[in-house]
Amino acid sequence: MKTQILKIKNNKIDREKIKQASILLKKDELVAFPTETVYGLGANALSSRAIKKIFEAKNRPADNPLIVHIAKKSDLKKYTKNIPKIANRLISSFWPGPLTIILEKNKLIPKIATAGLDYVAIRMPANKIALELIKESGVPLAAPSANLSTKPSPTLAKHVIEDLNGKIAGIIDGGSTKIGLESTVLDLTTTPPTLLRPGDITIKQIENLIGPINLPKNKKNQIITKSPGTKYRHYSPKTKIYLFEGNKNKVNQAIQKLINSNKNKKIGVITNNKNSNYKNTFLVHFIGSTEKPMARNLFKVFRDLDEKKLDFIVAEGINDENLGLAIMNRLRKASHKIKKIKK
Ligand code: TXA
Ligand code: MG
Repeated sequence: MKTQILKIKNNKIDREKIKQASILLKKDELVAFPTETVYGLGANALSSRAIKKIFEAKNRPADNPLIVHIAKKSDLKKYTKNIPKIANRLISSFWPGPLTIILEKNKLIPKIATAGLDYVAIRMPANKIALELIKESGVPLAAPSANLSTKPSPTLAKHVIEDLNGKIAGIIDGGSTKIGLESTVLDLTTTPPTLLRPGDITIKQIENLIGPINLPKNKKNQIITKSPGTKYRHYSPKTKIYLFEGNKNKVNQAIQKLINSNKNKKIGVITNNKNSNYKNTFLVHFIGSTEKPMARNLFKVFRDLDEKKLDFIVAEGINDENLGLAIMNRLRKASHKIKKIKK
């Protein structure tokens, strides 16, 4: 299949190209499009035939449900039922934006979209191209991240092309995505709601609005993600990552020690210190010193470093609070080994 690449600027939307993409979607074809988080692989969410193509193109396990994207807050009640009051409070604060909520679905949403569950994940993205595309298509769009299963989520159209060129009908190139990590997923079918995946909308922001939420934790007392998708290997570059967490100086020393004892190896270090002075290593990649740029760069860095054919990657961890929790969640999942440095 020849994939149409449609370049659209966020600040000057080309209506003709949006139309072209929506025609493909109306024919049950797949079109990748930018959102504020990562690129999504869109299909008509009301068509089982279209959704089936998502699972095939991505090689996605059939038991991993999809997020349905809408362009108007009021469309929520078209596809869900028994909407609790807190849902309205959440969406009036955080939509359009990177918060996905899980609610009871109604009959319009086909079972294949939710992997057989009676609950549907739904969000209204904060990206003009995405919103225009949904409106023009006249249907909600089911869209997982537009990567091959197990690859890092795409933050540039180039990443989507790498993974899906020739397999899907269209890709809208809307430049780099603003946030860089997938949306926060919150299950509203439990009382209190349960965090299923951390993202740019933080626990603090949610709890300030609706009070304490359920935070599933692992044996190490770390907050974990419980959405069906998270049991699969995720977000990982092919190259093995060794993640070091703990006191900054000690982490630096431990990483330098590891480099020194692997003299013949091609090692790449992901650092959050602009002036880091690791010695005798093939490459040191500065990912940003604050959370926002780190989140924006993380998946791109995974893909870029994979191209360098390194023997392994070493990454410095950060505090897992606020947006740091989402960053560390993705980093930990991508890592082959995690080394905790004691104080
Ligand atoms: O930012 C995002 O959320 C991006 C953009 C494209 O919107 N989408 C995205 O989709 O990350 P995906 O499919 O890669 O991740 C969706 C996550 C998965 O972990 C999935 O298991 C979970 O949401 N999920 C979807 N429907 C669910 C449901 N009904 N119950 C529980 N978890 C669900
Ligand atoms: Mg994904």
